[in-house]
Amino acid sequence: MERVPTTPTAEPEPEREEEAMPMPNLVQELAAAAGVKQELPPTRYVRWGQQHHGGGGVSPVVANQLPEPIPVIDLSRLPSDALEAAKLQTALQDWGLFLVINHGIEASLMDAVMNASNQFFEQPPEEKQKYSNLIDGKHFQVEGYGNDQIKTQDQTLDWSDRLHLIVGPEDKRNLAIWPKRPESFRFALEEYTSKSKRIKHIILAAMARLLDLDEGYFLHQFGDRAPTTVRINHYVPCPRPDLVLGFKAHSDDGVLATLLVDNDVSALQVLKDGIWYNVPTNPRSLLINIGDFMEIMSNGIFKSPVHRVVANCEKERTSLAMFYGLDAEKEIKPAADLLHDNQPARYKKVKIRNYMAGFYEHFARGTRVLDTMKI
Ligand code: OGA
Ligand code: NI
Repeated sequence: MERVPTTPTAEPEPEREEEAMPMPNLVQELAAAAGVKQELPPTRYVRWGQQHHGGGGVSPVVANQLPEPIPVIDLSRLPSDALEAAKLQTALQDWGLFLVINHGIEASLMDAVMNASNQFFEQPPEEKQKYSNLIDGKHFQVEGYGNDQIKTQDQTLDWSDRLHLIVGPEDKRNLAIWPKRPESFRFALEEYTSKSKRIKHIILAAMARLLDLDEGYFLHQFGDRAPTTVRINHYVPCPRPDLVLGFKAHSDDGVLATLLVDNDVSALQVLKDGIWYNVPTNPRSLLINIGDFMEIMSNGIFKSPVHRVVANCEKERTSLAMFYGLDAEKEIKPAADLLHDNQPARYKKVKIRNYMAGFYEHFARGTRVLDTMKI
């Protein structure tokens, strides 16, 4: 890829500083480090020119407002109300994401899990490092606290830190890397996880009905060993939000993801027909988006949306994403009942393990593994 700086040529080149000083690998520490506040972010966080997914040339801070509001689905009505189901269909076909209200998670539980998450990130680095995603400070694992895996030297890193945990199946929880402080963290996350399951069930049953599939079609793909993971993203203010991204453009792996955002910082953007749109926040609702596995299984009728998070120069932001994945040994393919002579499979059959290996490779480069699976 040609590297074209987005900065005007008159800007000082953001290249030298970092070689001279040892660099903390966590964005929170970086941002807090003396001097960095007023200066350019280190080179490896700077987003150079042309981004993938057709978003090139559009400054991240100036995205379009949505032409119509993001659909808000009343989850309590979804199983029985045809109008609500029709709204879901439109939302999925137009955006791949939507908001849900009456989702059954009490406001107090949403606050509890968000407060515990924020309190975790507010702690000193030594406390958080106990849960590091770098084993012995070197070997990266997906689970734990930290930043992106560095796969290539010229990779652009995201201006955020995160805590990534397996929450299901329960016997797969690696409690040694679940934060012990704040003490409320574990219980809040367990409660939130268990209440969220119902949301996934209702939505996936409704989606199967929309496609005239057996209501349990998507739910049956999970079995009892399918992983559910949580990624708590902490976006740190950046003095130059025009140069970095909080989370680079990507689509999510998994079947479905739910997103809880802590306050009113609108930073999430979604790509449609080559244009980035701001996704507004909506207190007390949850944002739902489908992932790449659903795009494959629905033979592309439901598209996994490409999205990204822009940085902000003042406000912190925390979000909690819950991903419903599938067992590594499972193979997925477009549902047979959706295929006809004039509607052939548009995606290859793929084993989840192979998909996931490709996912991280592509993510680091800012491309999509899903594109390699299209026929
Ligand atoms: C993610 C994600 C969006 C956000 O965790 O995959 O896209 O707003 N998060 O934090
Ligand atoms: Ni995402």
